[in-house]
Parts: sequence; structure tokens; C-alpha cells
Amino acid sequence: MDMTFRELAEDEVERCAGWLTASEPWIALGFDQAKSEWALRRVGLEKWVAVDSDDTPVGIALLNFGGPFVGYLQILCVAPEQRGRGIGSALIGFAEERIFARHNNMFICVTDFNTDAQRLYARHGFEQVGRLENFLVTGHAELLLRKTRGPIFAPPAPNDGGA
Ligand SMILES: CC(C)(COP(=O)(O)OP(=O)(O)OC[C@H]1O[C@@H](n2cnc3c(N)ncnc32)[C@H](O)[C@@H]1OP(=O)(O)O)[C@@H](O)C(=O)NCCC(=O)NCCS
Repeated sequence: MDMTFRELAEDEVERCAGWLTASEPWIALGFDQAKSEWALRRVGLEKWVAVDSDDTPVGIALLNFGGPFVGYLQILCVAPEQRGRGIGSALIGFAEERIFARHNNMFICVTDFNTDAQRLYARHGFEQVGRLENFLVTGHAELLLRKTRGPIFAPPAPNDGGA
């Protein structure tokens, strides 16, 4: 597919939120349309869409550059009828480019039952570094995944042997 990336427009929020409302894990997490739209309108996040050759959104990625786990892929969703065609992988790659340009670590949370997404993230080099029980809703855990290129702080300069 001929695909490019651009920022999410306000008049596209309803459509993209509809993808979340119709998809796991958000169904199990209790996201109705209003809550999904709220999630996509949260301030302080980078909001990107993958668009087809008609400039129609086919997938969305929200990036969070604040908080303790800087470089966090907060939401990733592809239009239900477009899944399995490489759009999710392309959005992950795009997110990686933006995050690793500024930070050495990238984080994602994935719900414990979302084994399809877990397999996808593992293929992209993400490893589980934590498990947050009952984090979003009671009865389900969020798995914290990380892809790393090194620690946040550069190692101390080597001692040059001077007195
Ligand atoms: C997960 C998701 C973003 C992947 O996007 P995609 O464009 O379908 O992915 P790609 O075509 O690049 O890669 C295919 C892989 O995605 C995963 N995948 C495919 N369909 C999926 C679906 N309906 N739900 C979850 N993961 C799916 C699988 O790992 C698949 O690999 P496989 O061939 O080993 O089964 C997309 O399927 C989706 O939006 N799913 C629902 C929402 C979701 O689970 N988001 C992630 C929350 S952390």
C-alpha cells in the first residue's frame, strides 16, 4: 500500500475513535465511543495517522514524550478492515524513528490477552520488562515492553589516567 504519515486532524478523531471502540483490547477495557474520543484528544501527545493514497487515515499512533517512561507508544490501532497488511508495522517503525532520534528507550504497554499484538511487538524487538497487574481494569494485566539502544545517561567518561 502507498502510505504516508501525517498529524491527526480534529475532524478525523471520531472515525479513528470508532476503530478503538470496535476493537480489543479497548472493548474489554470498557472504552465506548466517548471514552475513545477522549483518549485521542488528550493533550500533550503526538498524534499521527498513516494515510493511504487518498489521504484517508488507515491507522493511528499516539506518542508520549513525557512522564517517567519517556518515548512511550501510548495507542496503536489500525482500521479493522486494513489489518494484516503491514500498516501496524509501518506505524511502529515510524514511532521508533521519532523516539530513537531523541531517546535510547522506547516503551509500550500491551494487555495480557492481546497475544497477536504481543507477537508483533516481539518481532519488532520489544521485550517484556514488567507486568502491571490490575493496571487499567481489574482482572487484566498490562505488560510493559521496552526496546533499548542503551541507558538514558551516557557512561561516565573513562579516566584518562591523570593524577
Ligand atoms: C495490532 C495492530 C496495530 C497491528 O497492525 P496490523 O497492520 O494488523 O499489523 P501488520 O500487518 O503490520 O502485522 C501483522 C501482525 O499484527 C498482529 N495482528 C494482526 N491482526 C491483528 C488483530 N486483529 N489484533 C491484534 N493484532 C493483530 C499479528 O501479530 C500479525 O502478525 P501474524 O502474521 O504473526 O499474525 C492491529 O492489528 C490493530 O489495530 N489491532 C487492534 C488494536 C490493538 O491490538 N492494538 C495494539 C494495542 S497495544
